[in-house]
Amino acid sequence: MQTSRILQAYAEKTPASARLFERAAGLFPGGVTHVGRYLRPHPLFTARASGSRKWDVDGNEYVDYFGGHGALILGHSHPAVVAAVTEQVAKGMHYGSSHELEVEWAELIRQMIPSAERVRFTLSGTEATMLALRVARAYKGKPMVVRFLSHFHGWQDHVAFGAEVPPGILPEVAGRVLLCPPGDIAAFRRLCESRHDIAAVILEPTGATFGQVPLNGQFLRDLREATKEHGVLLIFDEVISGFRCSPGGAQQFYQVTPDLTTLGKIIAGGMPGAALAGRADVLGVMEHRVTGQGLRLPDVAHQGTHNAAPPSAAAGIATLRLVRDTDVIEAANRTAAEIRREMNGVLRRKGMAWCVYGEFSAFHIYPNLERVPVTPEDIHQGRLPWSKLKGATPMELLQKIRAGFLLNGVDLMGWPGGLVSGVHNRRDVDHTVAAFEKLLDLLAAENAV
Ligand SMILES: Cc1ncc(COP(=O)(O)O)c(C=O)c1O
Repeated sequence: MQTSRILQAYAEKTPASARLFERAAGLFPGGVTHVGRYLRPHPLFTARASGSRKWDVDGNEYVDYFGGHGALILGHSHPAVVAAVTEQVAKGMHYGSSHELEVEWAELIRQMIPSAERVRFTLSGTEATMLALRVARAYKGKPMVVRFLSHFHGWQDHVAFGAEVPPGILPEVAGRVLLCPPGDIAAFRRLCESRHDIAAVILEPTGATFGQVPLNGQFLRDLREATKEHGVLLIFDEVISGFRCSPGGAQQFYQVTPDLTTLGKIIAGGMPGAALAGRADVLGVMEHRVTGQGLRLPDVAHQGTHNAAPPSAAAGIATLRLVRDTDVIEAANRTAAEIRREMNGVLRRKGMAWCVYGEFSAFHIYPNLERVPVTPEDIHQGRLPWSKLKGATPMELLQKIRAGFLLNGVDLMGWPGGLVSGVHNRRDVDHTVAAFEKLLDLLAAENAV
């Protein structure tokens, strides 16, 4: 890896990031604060961001598709969000009590998300999925949950493993989770028919990683039917897709209403914040009870110092209003479609077997190392096994793709791919497509593809 021209050139372009990394390396495991931000020889250190762009500590400018890990549908520091947060911070950061903004925030969510009869705020999407599974188990009085391989639900113990269980996760916890191949309704039905202790099934309704392993509406409808038949709660993890696929999330787009929904990212407009929403009777397990012996704590006593933090509520309200009242979602979707189409044009011109695909405001780059001809349509129709789409590209190549894009002024998610905001524009697209072309030349020059 050390001899890669791409990585060398990236290092030469970012000396101030390298200096900060020297300090970070002695402080953080791996020198980073999130496994997804890892990059060799050093990660990018950002100094500021605005709209669709960010600038690193050397002053280099990038078109940003990391987008606050998908939280920034309005781009960086949208004036309405900055004004709302600034006003709130001056009035108080944390009241340690109920407040009006949390009510307004939840009212907006209930108005926008079809399944949201009740809402409970959490700090992160991981907490939201943790709460969803606990609430589902408490409500059903059953221990097992079903997940789909490759779907991502954060880093808590019930969801942070696939076919292999990594060290640190108790086998007893992993043993309470049943794994199903993604998109396989027959396998899910077989599971439900073979046992009666399943409380819930959780999935990303767009398919894993916002459509990196796509699903379709028919699967969601079949799953809704099967869960109803077998008395299993259906949980849509809409931490990415909520407010992004449409103002009402994937559930509004596909017209399939789950029992529970986890929401994050866009919900708090770039501030920390997430939520569990869903059926009033199910979320009722979080309500105090009056019994013959007096007032009792809820079955699920949910805490969290930063739940519904006022600055997060302020940012969330400002963001959700714009998502509801403007065409920001359509704009993001349109721009992402242009990026996908024009990147595929570059691939065709170069005669390369790679493929760029995705739906809504995402683009996913499939390096197609086996060079079997494939179109976006093939991928969307499920003609490629999920294991080829997620987790198959060698990490060294993924790092070169990310560094090569950075070298050419574009910051991507490590998938590799990106999430587009409503403020990315034509200039950004042109810059991105040109960067893609240069990246491919650089990779070819070092025989990396
Ligand atoms: C679908 C999905 N669920 C859950 C999470 C976890 O959210 P958080 O990073 O806020 O803990 C993520 C984060 O990327 C996600 O994409």
